Amino acid sequence: MFIGKIAWITGASSGIGEALVKEFVKRGGTVIASSNDMPGLERVKAACGDKSSMVHCVPFDLSDTSVISDVVDLQVKERGRLDFLFNIGGISQRARIDETPIWLDRKIFEINYFGTISLTKAVLPHMVRQQSGHILATSSISGRFGFPLRSAYSASKQALHGFFETLYLENKKNNIRSSMIIPGRVRTSISIHALNAEGKEHGKLDDGQKKGITPEKAAEIILKGMLRNKREILVGKEELLILHIRRYFPWLFFRIADKIKST
Ligand SMILES: NC(=O)c1ccc[n+]([C@@H]2O[C@H](COP(=O)([O-])OP(=O)(O)OC[C@H]3O[C@@H](n4cnc5c(N)ncnc54)[C@H](OP(=O)(O)O)[C@@H]3O)[C@@H](O)[C@H]2O)c1
Repeated sequence: MFIGKIAWITGASSGIGEALVKEFVKRGGTVIASSNDMPGLERVKAACGDKSSMVHCVPFDLSDTSVISDVVDLQVKERGRLDFLFNIGGISQRARIDETPIWLDRKIFEINYFGTISLTKAVLPHMVRQQSGHILATSSISGRFGFPLRSAYSASKQALHGFFETLYLENKKNNIRSSMIIPGRVRTSISIHALNAEGKEHGKLDDGQKKGITPEKAAEIILKGMLRNKREILVGKEELLILHIRRYFPWLFFRIADKIKST
Protein backbone atom coordinates (compact mmCIF):
# COMPACT_ATOMS: atom_id res chain seq x y z
CA MET A 1 0.00 0.00 0.00
CA PHE A 2 2.89 2.36 0.78
CA ILE A 3 5.28 0.92 -1.79
CA GLY A 4 7.55 3.68 -3.11
CA LYS A 5 6.29 6.14 -0.48
CA ILE A 6 8.57 7.89 2.00
CA ALA A 7 7.48 8.86 5.51
CA TRP A 8 9.33 10.90 8.09
CA ILE A 9 8.37 9.75 11.59
CA THR A 10 9.51 11.56 14.74
CA GLY A 11 9.29 9.92 18.17
CA ALA A 12 10.39 6.79 16.29
CA SER A 13 12.45 5.26 19.12
CA SER A 14 9.50 4.42 21.35
CA GLY A 15 5.76 3.93 21.75
CA ILE A 16 3.42 5.17 19.01
CA GLY A 17 6.23 6.35 16.71
CA GLU A 18 8.02 3.00 16.96
CA ALA A 19 4.83 1.10 16.12
CA LEU A 20 4.20 3.40 13.14
CA VAL A 21 7.72 2.77 11.77
CA LYS A 22 7.18 -1.00 11.95
CA GLU A 23 3.72 -0.86 10.37
CA PHE A 24 4.75 1.55 7.61
CA VAL A 25 7.69 -0.57 6.43
CA LYS A 26 5.59 -3.74 6.78
CA ARG A 27 3.22 -2.19 4.24
CA GLY A 28 6.10 -1.53 1.82
CA GLY A 29 7.15 2.07 2.56
CA THR A 30 10.45 3.70 3.44
CA VAL A 31 10.89 5.55 6.73
CA ILE A 32 13.17 8.31 7.95
CA ALA A 33 13.08 7.53 11.67
CA SER A 34 13.93 10.33 14.10
CA SER A 35 14.24 10.90 17.80
CA ASN A 36 17.00 12.04 20.11
CA ASP A 37 18.08 8.48 20.86
CA MET A 38 20.29 6.81 18.21
CA PRO A 39 20.59 3.42 20.01
CA GLY A 40 16.79 3.40 20.36
CA LEU A 41 16.36 4.12 16.64
CA GLU A 42 18.88 1.39 15.75
CA ARG A 43 16.92 -1.05 17.94
CA VAL A 44 13.67 -0.21 16.11
CA LYS A 45 15.41 -0.54 12.72
CA ALA A 46 16.78 -3.98 13.68
CA ALA A 47 13.34 -5.06 14.89
CA CYS A 48 12.00 -4.46 11.37
CA GLY A 49 13.88 -7.64 10.32
CA ASP A 50 13.97 -8.15 6.55
CA LYS A 51 12.51 -4.64 6.11
CA SER A 52 15.22 -2.95 8.18
CA SER A 53 16.98 -1.57 5.09
CA MET A 54 13.83 0.53 4.54
CA VAL A 55 14.49 2.40 7.80
CA HIS A 56 16.95 5.33 7.83
CA CYS A 57 17.85 6.59 11.30
CA VAL A 58 18.21 10.36 11.52
CA PRO A 59 18.61 11.47 15.15
CA PHE A 60 18.11 15.07 16.25
CA ASP A 61 16.80 16.93 19.25
CA LEU A 62 13.39 18.50 18.63
CA SER A 63 14.32 21.28 21.04
CA ASP A 64 17.31 22.30 18.89
CA THR A 65 15.48 23.99 16.03
CA SER A 66 18.72 25.46 14.62
CA VAL A 67 19.68 22.14 12.97
CA ILE A 68 16.29 21.12 11.57
CA SER A 69 16.21 22.79 8.14
CA ASP A 70 19.70 21.46 7.24
CA VAL A 71 18.66 17.95 8.33
CA VAL A 72 15.52 18.14 6.16
CA ASP A 73 17.30 19.54 3.08
CA LEU A 74 19.89 16.76 3.28
CA GLN A 75 17.24 14.03 3.57
CA VAL A 76 15.12 15.37 0.70
CA LYS A 77 18.24 15.65 -1.46
CA GLU A 78 19.16 12.04 -0.66
CA ARG A 79 15.66 10.52 -1.00
CA GLY A 80 14.30 12.76 -3.76
CA ARG A 81 10.87 13.30 -2.19
CA LEU A 82 8.79 13.05 0.97
CA ASP A 83 5.19 11.84 1.03
CA PHE A 84 4.26 11.86 4.73
CA LEU A 85 5.43 13.66 7.83
CA PHE A 86 4.28 12.08 11.10
CA ASN A 87 5.07 14.51 13.92
CA ILE A 88 4.83 12.05 16.82
CA GLY A 89 7.71 13.00 19.15
CA GLY A 90 6.73 14.77 22.35
CA ILE A 91 7.05 14.94 26.10
CA SER A 92 4.50 15.13 28.91
CA GLN A 93 4.42 16.80 32.32
CA ARG A 94 3.49 15.93 35.91
CA ALA A 95 3.73 19.18 37.89
CA ARG A 96 1.31 21.80 39.24
CA ILE A 97 1.41 25.33 37.79
CA ASP A 98 2.65 26.83 41.07
CA GLU A 99 5.67 24.49 41.17
CA THR A 100 6.55 24.62 37.44
CA PRO A 101 9.38 27.10 36.72
CA ILE A 102 9.02 29.08 33.50
CA TRP A 103 12.10 27.40 31.96
CA LEU A 104 10.23 24.11 32.19
CA ASP A 105 7.16 25.55 30.44
CA ARG A 106 9.53 26.74 27.71
CA LYS A 107 11.28 23.36 27.47
CA ILE A 108 7.98 21.53 26.96
CA PHE A 109 6.95 24.08 24.33
CA GLU A 110 10.34 23.80 22.60
CA ILE A 111 9.87 20.06 22.11
CA ASN A 112 6.10 19.73 21.60
CA TYR A 113 5.38 22.95 19.71
CA PHE A 114 8.47 24.68 18.29
CA GLY A 115 10.27 21.44 17.37
CA THR A 116 7.17 20.13 15.62
CA ILE A 117 6.42 23.31 13.70
CA SER A 118 10.10 23.82 12.76
CA LEU A 119 10.24 20.39 11.16
CA THR A 120 6.91 21.04 9.45
CA LYS A 121 8.06 24.43 8.13
CA ALA A 122 11.25 22.84 6.77
CA VAL A 123 9.32 20.04 5.04
CA LEU A 124 6.50 22.20 3.67
CA PRO A 125 8.36 23.90 0.75
CA HIS A 126 9.40 20.48 -0.55
CA MET A 127 5.80 19.25 -0.46
CA VAL A 128 4.60 22.49 -2.11
CA ARG A 129 7.16 21.91 -4.87
CA GLN A 130 5.88 18.34 -5.27
CA GLN A 131 2.25 19.57 -5.03
CA SER A 132 1.52 16.62 -2.78
CA GLY A 133 2.03 15.41 0.77
CA HIS A 134 0.32 14.65 4.06
CA ILE A 135 1.46 16.21 7.34
CA LEU A 136 0.23 14.82 10.67
CA ALA A 137 0.77 16.22 14.14
CA THR A 138 0.08 14.63 17.52
CA SER A 139 -2.04 16.41 20.06
CA SER A 140 -3.77 14.67 22.99
CA ILE A 141 -7.20 14.68 24.55
CA SER A 142 -5.65 17.17 26.95
CA GLY A 143 -4.91 19.31 23.87
CA ARG A 144 -8.65 19.91 23.92
CA PHE A 145 -8.97 21.04 27.55
CA GLY A 146 -6.93 21.93 30.62
CA PHE A 147 -5.95 19.07 32.90
CA PRO A 148 -4.32 18.98 36.37
CA LEU A 149 -0.50 18.61 36.38
CA ARG A 150 -0.26 19.18 32.62
CA SER A 151 -0.49 22.97 32.19
CA ALA A 152 2.41 23.37 29.73
CA TYR A 153 1.71 20.03 28.05
CA SER A 154 -1.94 20.86 27.48
CA ALA A 155 -1.10 24.39 26.29
CA SER A 156 1.62 23.16 23.90
CA LYS A 157 -0.78 20.64 22.38
CA GLN A 158 -3.58 23.22 22.10
CA ALA A 159 -1.16 25.52 20.24
CA LEU A 160 -0.63 22.77 17.65
CA HIS A 161 -4.34 22.85 16.76
CA GLY A 162 -4.14 26.53 15.77
CA PHE A 163 -1.00 25.98 13.71
CA PHE A 164 -2.11 22.85 11.88
CA GLU A 165 -5.64 24.07 11.11
CA THR A 166 -4.00 27.09 9.48
CA LEU A 167 -1.56 24.83 7.62
CA TYR A 168 -4.52 22.89 6.25
CA LEU A 169 -6.43 26.00 5.17
CA GLU A 170 -3.41 27.61 3.50
CA ASN A 171 -2.20 24.49 1.70
CA LYS A 172 -5.30 22.71 0.44
CA LYS A 173 -4.64 24.48 -2.86
CA ASN A 174 -1.19 22.83 -2.92
CA ASN A 175 -2.74 19.38 -2.53
CA ILE A 176 -1.17 19.03 0.92
CA ARG A 177 -3.27 17.19 3.46
CA SER A 178 -3.10 17.60 7.18
CA SER A 179 -4.44 15.53 10.09
CA MET A 180 -4.36 15.97 13.85
CA ILE A 181 -3.83 12.77 15.82
CA ILE A 182 -5.65 12.95 19.17
CA PRO A 183 -4.69 10.05 21.44
CA GLY A 184 -6.50 9.24 24.64
CA ARG A 185 -4.57 6.54 26.46
CA VAL A 186 -1.93 4.46 24.73
CA ARG A 187 0.24 2.05 26.72
CA THR A 188 3.67 3.68 26.14
CA SER A 189 6.42 5.24 28.24
CA ILE A 190 4.92 8.76 27.97
CA SER A 191 4.11 9.04 31.69
CA ILE A 192 7.50 7.54 32.68
CA HIS A 193 9.36 10.21 30.65
CA ALA A 194 6.99 13.04 31.71
CA LEU A 195 8.84 15.91 33.41
CA ASN A 196 8.25 16.76 37.07
CA ALA A 197 8.71 20.19 38.66
CA GLU A 198 12.52 19.77 38.69
CA GLY A 199 12.56 18.82 35.00
CA LYS A 200 13.38 15.21 35.95
CA GLU A 201 11.53 12.11 34.76
CA HIS A 202 8.28 11.30 36.59
CA GLY A 203 9.48 7.68 36.30
CA LYS A 204 6.11 5.94 36.76
CA LEU A 205 3.73 4.20 34.42
CA ASP A 206 0.46 5.87 35.46
CA ASP A 207 -2.60 3.73 36.17
CA GLY A 208 -4.54 5.34 33.30
CA GLN A 209 -1.69 4.56 30.92
CA LYS A 210 -1.74 0.90 31.91
CA LYS A 211 -5.36 0.65 30.73
CA GLY A 212 -4.60 2.17 27.33
CA ILE A 213 -4.64 0.52 23.92
CA THR A 214 -1.38 -0.90 22.57
CA PRO A 215 0.91 1.28 20.41
CA GLU A 216 0.37 -1.24 17.59
CA LYS A 217 -3.40 -0.67 17.72
CA ALA A 218 -2.77 3.09 17.82
CA ALA A 219 -0.58 2.85 14.68
CA GLU A 220 -3.30 0.90 12.89
CA ILE A 221 -5.94 3.53 13.77
CA ILE A 222 -3.63 6.38 12.71
CA LEU A 223 -2.81 4.87 9.30
CA LYS A 224 -6.47 4.05 8.66
CA GLY A 225 -7.52 7.60 9.58
CA MET A 226 -4.78 9.06 7.42
CA LEU A 227 -5.78 7.00 4.39
CA ARG A 228 -9.35 8.25 4.87
CA ASN A 229 -7.93 11.76 4.97
CA LYS A 230 -9.52 12.46 8.37
CA ARG A 231 -8.88 15.95 9.75
CA GLU A 232 -8.87 14.56 13.30
CA ILE A 233 -7.89 11.00 14.13
CA LEU A 234 -9.14 9.94 17.57
CA VAL A 235 -7.00 7.17 19.08
CA GLY A 236 -8.18 5.28 22.14
CA LYS A 237 -11.24 3.71 23.75
CA GLU A 238 -13.94 4.90 26.15
CA GLU A 239 -11.72 7.70 27.53
CA LEU A 240 -12.38 9.59 24.26
CA LEU A 241 -15.94 10.21 25.51
CA ILE A 242 -14.50 13.05 27.61
CA LEU A 243 -14.03 15.07 24.39
CA HIS A 244 -17.78 15.02 23.77
CA ILE A 245 -18.53 15.73 27.43
CA ARG A 246 -16.21 18.77 27.34
CA ARG A 247 -17.85 20.04 24.17
CA TYR A 248 -21.53 19.46 24.91
CA PHE A 249 -21.69 19.30 28.74
CA PRO A 250 -18.83 21.52 29.99
CA TRP A 251 -20.30 21.65 33.52
CA LEU A 252 -20.01 17.84 33.71
CA PHE A 253 -16.45 17.94 32.43
CA PHE A 254 -15.43 20.32 35.22
CA ARG A 255 -17.17 18.15 37.81
CA ILE A 256 -15.20 15.09 36.59
CA ALA A 257 -11.88 16.95 36.21
CA ASP A 258 -12.32 18.42 39.70
CA LYS A 259 -11.89 14.93 41.13
CA ILE A 260 -8.45 14.45 39.54
CA LYS A 261 -5.69 14.34 42.13
CA SER A 262 -3.46 17.39 41.69
CA THR A 263 -1.14 17.26 44.66
N1 LIG B 1 0.65 7.50 25.15
C1 LIG B 1 -0.40 8.23 25.34
O1 LIG B 1 -1.32 7.83 26.08
C2 LIG B 1 -0.52 9.57 24.68
C3 LIG B 1 -1.68 10.32 24.93
C4 LIG B 1 -1.82 11.56 24.33
C5 LIG B 1 -0.82 12.03 23.49
N2 LIG B 1 0.31 11.30 23.27
C6 LIG B 1 1.32 11.87 22.38
O2 LIG B 1 1.81 10.86 21.53
C7 LIG B 1 3.15 11.16 21.13
C8 LIG B 1 4.01 9.91 21.25
O3 LIG B 1 4.15 9.58 22.62
P1 LIG B 1 4.27 8.08 23.14
O4 LIG B 1 3.05 7.82 23.90
O5 LIG B 1 4.66 7.17 22.05
O6 LIG B 1 5.45 8.27 24.21
P2 LIG B 1 6.95 7.73 24.29
O7 LIG B 1 6.96 6.25 24.21
O8 LIG B 1 7.52 8.38 25.50
O9 LIG B 1 7.63 8.33 22.98
C9 LIG B 1 7.99 9.68 22.87
C10 LIG B 1 8.93 9.86 21.70
O10 LIG B 1 9.24 11.27 21.57
C11 LIG B 1 10.65 11.41 21.46
N3 LIG B 1 11.17 12.65 22.03
C12 LIG B 1 10.93 13.17 23.27
N4 LIG B 1 11.65 14.27 23.47
C13 LIG B 1 12.38 14.46 22.33
C14 LIG B 1 13.33 15.43 21.91
N5 LIG B 1 13.70 16.45 22.72
N6 LIG B 1 13.87 15.32 20.69
C15 LIG B 1 13.54 14.30 19.87
N7 LIG B 1 12.64 13.34 20.21
C16 LIG B 1 12.08 13.42 21.42
C17 LIG B 1 11.21 10.23 22.28
O11 LIG B 1 12.52 9.97 21.85
P3 LIG B 1 13.82 10.11 22.78
O12 LIG B 1 14.13 8.72 23.13
O13 LIG B 1 14.77 10.77 21.88
O14 LIG B 1 13.47 10.94 23.97
C18 LIG B 1 10.25 9.11 21.90
O15 LIG B 1 10.66 8.51 20.70
C19 LIG B 1 3.59 12.34 22.01
O16 LIG B 1 3.51 13.53 21.26
C20 LIG B 1 2.56 12.36 23.12
O17 LIG B 1 2.37 13.64 23.66
C21 LIG B 1 0.47 10.08 23.86
